[in-house]
Amino acid sequence: MQNIITTLKKLFYLWRRSQVPAKHSIKISRIDILIIFLVCILISIISSYKLLLISPLNIADFFSWLFTFTEILISTGILILVSKKENPTISSRQILFIITLLLAVQATKLVFASTISPLSMIIPPALVISQGMGTITALAWVSIASFSWPDPTVAINNNLFFILLACSSVVSLLGGRIRSRAQLLQLSIFVPIGSFLSQCLLIGKDKIFLFNKQDFVLANGDIFSDSLLLAIVMLFTILFIPIFESIFGLLTKARLLELADKENPLIRRLSLEAPGTFEHTLLICGLAEEATRMIGGDIDLIKTGGLYHDVGKLHAPNWFIENQDGSKNPHDELDDPIKSAEVLQAHVDEGLKFARKNRLPKLIANFIPEHQGTLKMGYFFQKAKEKNLDINEYYFRYKGPIPQSKETAILMLADGCEAALRAMNINASDNEAMETISKIIYARQKDGQLKDSDLSRGEIFLIKRAFLNVWKRIRHRRIQYPTAKNNTFS
Ligand SMILES: [Fe+2]
Ligand SMILES: [Fe+2]
Repeated sequence: MQNIITTLKKLFYLWRRSQVPAKHSIKISRIDILIIFLVCILISIISSYKLLLISPLNIADFFSWLFTFTEILISTGILILVSKKENPTISSRQILFIITLLLAVQATKLVFASTISPLSMIIPPALVISQGMGTITALAWVSIASFSWPDPTVAINNNLFFILLACSSVVSLLGGRIRSRAQLLQLSIFVPIGSFLSQCLLIGKDKIFLFNKQDFVLANGDIFSDSLLLAIVMLFTILFIPIFESIFGLLTKARLLELADKENPLIRRLSLEAPGTFEHTLLICGLAEEATRMIGGDIDLIKTGGLYHDVGKLHAPNWFIENQDGSKNPHDELDDPIKSAEVLQAHVDEGLKFARKNRLPKLIANFIPEHQGTLKMGYFFQKAKEKNLDINEYYFRYKGPIPQSKETAILMLADGCEAALRAMNINASDNEAMETISKIIYARQKDGQLKDSDLSRGEIFLIKRAFLNVWKRIRHRRIQYPTAKNNTFS
């Protein structure tokens, strides 16, 4: 009986480990925590201090203030937790960005609540947050920014509040998915039109004054000018998104797709100066994309990261086998395994320099060192041993770090499998291909390269299946179709 319970517990533990991998979040320094906490306090003060201005102030009013203050402080804490849950690698700069937007909105409400429509205050920041941090964070931000109005509450029409929540939820949902700046522009036109029509329906047509008011923008309650102001603020926000991207290290879908453009100067250079590496890059992008789709990871991130993983090879393309084109191998002439290992490590170091020079976002630059992790340069280590050099294995390992995310881990596995799959016989069976893939992946697992990536056993199984599917596609492409004896039309 005891044995059965122990076995069941073990099975349950294994199942849980394979289903719910633990996430490593980035550590935030104490000084950053202090700054974030102070901003949260400031938000709570701004949102509640008016309750203390009531005179005469009695004990019930004080407790009412304390309650509101604590409520908003807890809400901002929840917002930070939600954003950390959605983006485990969120940096303190990005957390500060979210809560500073909240602070700015609360302060704007305090100053302009009676003159500017709440739509223009809450919807545009929701768009930026959904683009940079994801839909769930944006929805959490919207709910806190909408419900915590500076007290005593400035009267908002119930219907307007409903429209505000509906529009900002739509923006948060679509903003997290939108993949191009053109779609963002469309959103900034259709949302104000939608808000205008819904305000006409729910609030009343009598509040449309069109251009007969002098204080056109600051005419709160005028449906047309409110919607126009919303469109203008949204358009300006879209203009500023690239600036937010570079200051706060946000990585929007639109930015990822821009970087994935093969006409990008660095990628063009790779295709011209290191065509073999470029071909290898395209193939591993195919493998990695399929695997990421299988496990539900970030496809745009891996496609772009994969494209830049070996840009460092541009520093000396002909030192890498895929670019040698049958010509002499400079490593043979060098005949020094230690120096050869240094050249290999240089493709990572130089790659990081290229990333800095081209201002690649950190999440993309991470693919450069992490795709090699601390893997051993087996070929040169073997050569050193043959030469009886008394040298530590350490000099023949990449400097790391090992993959810190699922995406960089998948890229490492794809990088390892690419050459082996390409070299496989066209007549090889699926089982043989699967065996090769499993062997390569197991070697990396055993070497401890995947231990920080949070890939579960189930996910590794799916990755193997995905690689096999891509290999089957490649094999199909390589099969020559029989030519028809007579060139009849088909
Ligand atoms: Fe590499
Ligand atoms: Fe590579």
